[in-house]
Amino acid sequence: MKTTYISKQPNSQGLIDWTADENKTWNSLITRQSEIVKTRACPEFLEGLNRIGFSQDRVPQHSEINKRLKDFSGWEVEVVPALIPAKEFFTLLANKKFPAASFIRIPQELDYIQEPDIFHEFYGHVPLLTFSEYANFMEEFGKLALSISPKDRRRIFRIFWFTVEFGLLKTPKGIKAYGGGMLSSIHETVYSVESPLPQRVDFDPLSALRTPYRIDIPQPLYYVLENFTDLYKILDTDLVDLLEESKELGDFKPLFEPAGEEL
Ligand SMILES: [Fe+2]
Repeated sequence: MKTTYISKQPNSQGLIDWTADENKTWNSLITRQSEIVKTRACPEFLEGLNRIGFSQDRVPQHSEINKRLKDFSGWEVEVVPALIPAKEFFTLLANKKFPAASFIRIPQELDYIQEPDIFHEFYGHVPLLTFSEYANFMEEFGKLALSISPKDRRRIFRIFWFTVEFGLLKTPKGIKAYGGGMLSSIHETVYSVESPLPQRVDFDPLSALRTPYRIDIPQPLYYVLENFTDLYKILDTDLVDLLEESKELGDFKPLFEPAGEEL
């Protein structure tokens, strides 16, 4: 993936100088998204939003997020370039640091951006990182990914994609979203939970490992978790064995035209 965005560097006080226009973009994004997630995000995500209390009128500083996040789970967000290599990404996770590129989308890309900007990273991912068990899953997943070959990392990232980025969850009030990918997207939050178009299939790690995806379209298929414990239980299975099995069985037929790319 290529990007034209460049992360902003912190100044001598460790703060990022967001412009008035960038703060306005954050305000537009968070204002409209906060309405949309109310009935479509899982309760834990909404609780996480309360725990963090994002500023509405300006882009939050990494240091502010860290003060809150550290109290809840010991995690931090880290300033990184717009795109980082997979090894660096997983190394940060393995060290309880969530990479959060410090750039925000331009107004022309308010509705859709392929690159993960700061709204996606903060709003989409930080709320659930306040939950220690969820954060622990990310840490252990990072360690596991580092222990396998770079080629296998691409495949194992499918687990991450279909859970942390685009996962759905069964709740007493129906199927809700918990993935940071859809929950930072005005269209996909609604589409993933309510549209009759995508398939919603019970989550199973072997199937997820066999499912190709595209990063540039609304997902044609979502995996639905029965509960978060089922996600954490993946770490008790031998994922490396499962990875080998998924390679032997091969990929499922893509539900899309093969024009895009996986991360
Ligand atoms: Fe993400």
